[in-house]
Amino acid sequence: MKIIESKDLVCRKIELLKKQNQTIGFVPTMGALHKGHYELLKQAKNENKVVVCSIFVNPTQFNNPEDLKKYPRDLQKDFDYIADVCDLVFVPSVEEMYPENPTDSYDFGYLDTVMEAAFRPGHFNGVAMVVRRLFEIVKPDNTYFGKKDYQQALIVKELIKQMKVPIRMVMVDTVRESDGLAFSSRNSLLSSDKRKQAPFIYQTMQKVQTLMNNMKPQEIEGWIQDQFKEQKDFDLEYATIVQADNLQPIHDFATHTQAVLCVAAYLDNIRLIDNLELNKI
Ligand code: PAF
Repeated sequence: MKIIESKDLVCRKIELLKKQNQTIGFVPTMGALHKGHYELLKQAKNENKVVVCSIFVNPTQFNNPEDLKKYPRDLQKDFDYIADVCDLVFVPSVEEMYPENPTDSYDFGYLDTVMEAAFRPGHFNGVAMVVRRLFEIVKPDNTYFGKKDYQQALIVKELIKQMKVPIRMVMVDTVRESDGLAFSSRNSLLSSDKRKQAPFIYQTMQKVQTLMNNMKPQEIEGWIQDQFKEQKDFDLEYATIVQADNLQPIHDFATHTQAVLCVAAYLDNIRLIDNLELNKI
């Protein structure tokens, strides 16, 4: 596995690979890699000749400086973890990614007004800033994003459309710990006591599947809020049932093909998000 810090060097490598008609699969990350990332890379390896991963803790997508400061970082551990599923890892510095103060601004319409966008203003603009730059450098044929960050995946799909580039976006299923907690770099920030409570999010979401026959989406959202109120260590930010392809609210399960339940909650000041695609019964 090659480790490269310079974007010019990555560009040159990619050019060479393209001349040899090699397909490129790309997984952008912020490091602190876990099984969720590994699955993205594994799928990329199955479907492409060359797998590229980027590791860059992108400052423009953090609206809370404390969150950026405490974001877990361990590059050597990351390199060792992915060496068998990755050919090239791009690890730029902030100056390399943003030689000038970035000012680009994006319009993702409704997608960038709800859920994460409502609670983390500017977050997706920051994500788009870095993902656009990474796509321009790596020029992947296929890119892989986890469904855990469901809204982000839809925003990146829209970004690809707006960039008018022939990149195929693959949304990969969320990988969970044996107790149901979705893998996330932030899980490592939980104390062992709080870690034990964290599966409550997934357990609550799973119960929703059984309520769908008798309750309307808005009633279920209220039910979830009540469940969280009984958990003193959790602070629920939102629990919302939306259409899978555009995040518009759903008022009646019968009229929609695919619904997704999205949840964000703080557990001891650590922000966790998760979602579940709801199957019609
Ligand atoms: O999901 C992430 O880790 C980040 O938002 C991404 C896509 C790597 C952009 O910094």
